[in-house]
Amino acid sequence: MKKLSILFATNKKRNRHVSLLTPPPLPPVSSMGGIFFSIFSAAVFAFSLFFFAAQSEARVKGKCKDCHTMHNSYEGKEMTYGNQTGPFLVLTKGGCIGCHGQNPDGSENIITLGKTTIPQIIHRLDKGDLAGGNYSYVADGYSPDYTKGHNVKGISMQEKPPMDQPPGFLAGVMIPEGEGPAYWPGQNQLDCSGTWGCHGNRKEENSYKAVHGAHHTDDRALDGTTVGKSYRFLYGITGTEHKDWEYLAAPDNHNGYKGDPGHASMNTISYLCGECHARFHPNANLGGSEEVGHAYNSAWRKHPADIAFSTVRGGYAGSEYQE
Ligand code: HEC
Ligand code: HEC
Ligand code: HEC
Repeated sequence: MKKLSILFATNKKRNRHVSLLTPPPLPPVSSMGGIFFSIFSAAVFAFSLFFFAAQSEARVKGKCKDCHTMHNSYEGKEMTYGNQTGPFLVLTKGGCIGCHGQNPDGSENIITLGKTTIPQIIHRLDKGDLAGGNYSYVADGYSPDYTKGHNVKGISMQEKPPMDQPPGFLAGVMIPEGEGPAYWPGQNQLDCSGTWGCHGNRKEENSYKAVHGAHHTDDRALDGTTVGKSYRFLYGITGTEHKDWEYLAAPDNHNGYKGDPGHASMNTISYLCGECHARFHPNANLGGSEEVGHAYNSAWRKHPADIAFSTVRGGYAGSEYQE
């Protein structure tokens, strides 16, 4: 608590306003309060209170400087990927792909920095792919095969039409906090997060604003009410998270995705896919017709997702799929 009040004081005293979305000018101070001020001064006081309430049970661990930077230099360390240049919003080191794809040629699927462990989504560790996938298969510069995954901005070039838009897209489908985009402009490449991405609040165009505060949220209880308290920051989706993002997952210790055999919920993993690939998913909000089989007008066959194992093979009694 003591730490918190010091930070507050710093924040209040230097009553300047900087937009959270434009990286603020580098503050002259080198204290932690300075960092705090520079990334946070746009927020209102009440929100600061909220943030600190959450921060005391923060999910990310480690020193601020492991993840945030005062100066936009990387201290000689390669923190970026694909020639991305900062400064990045909220002064994080490297941006989403820089931090989660720190060493595309390396064999670390989870990078440890001090007390922090950072799941990697581009790496070369054999049998080390995490639940969030390994974009190594589609990353430009690494003999990409674009059919092997999403072409995410900053990792791969955008695919040519018609694959510049989500196959099976439907306008204005229901998503948390409102409706999905009315139209998917061909020039909008798929992003990590935000309106044109999978993670975060898809009502926010900006990929950082979309996950605002999520990394600092205590997410022991995943109820889907905020981005931080959603399964893997997939807003509204629930499930159970394996601690190491499924690295060395075991039959009794792995991710669990929420499903709904009735196709009537918005918190399932298939609903998340359906937000963009609406016609593939049988949910009254989305407009698909069947669970498995050929996906709408396409070459793809769907893997069943909303199946209750309790109804097949005696509920798979004794197996990891037992309900
Ligand atoms: C400075 C480093 C850094 C940056 C930048 C960063 N992340 Fe993370 N991210 C982390 C760390 C550390 C974790 C692991 C936290 C934990 O244990 O839950 C994480 C976890 C995640 C997870 C998994 C959450 C879970 O429940 O396991 C997602 C999804 C994610 N980040 C998305 C993003 C997106 C999208 C962006 C860009 C808007 C981003 N990250 C930017 C460091 C970073
Ligand atoms: C393990 C990495 C990591 C560490 C350590 C870390 N942060 Fe962050 N922080 C992030 C990431 C990534 C974001 C941007 C995405 C988000 O908001 O979830 C962020 C966002 C923020 C924000 C803006 C979002 C908000 O909730 O208002 C503030 C303020 C912040 N961090 C302060 C701090 C302070 C102060 C410390 C040290 C006590 C710290 N962070 C340590 C990764 C980290
Ligand atoms: C935010 C929108 C969005 C979400 C959410 C989304 N996708 Fe996609 N998906 C796209 C876009 C855009 C493309 C076409 C470009 C590409 O391949 O990246 C695509 C392409 C695909 C393809 C074809 C890949 C190829 O290149 O041949 C598959 C398969 C796919 N998505 C599956 C999924 C699954 C499974 C989920 C849920 C886990 C999902 N998508 C969630 C936007 C999305």
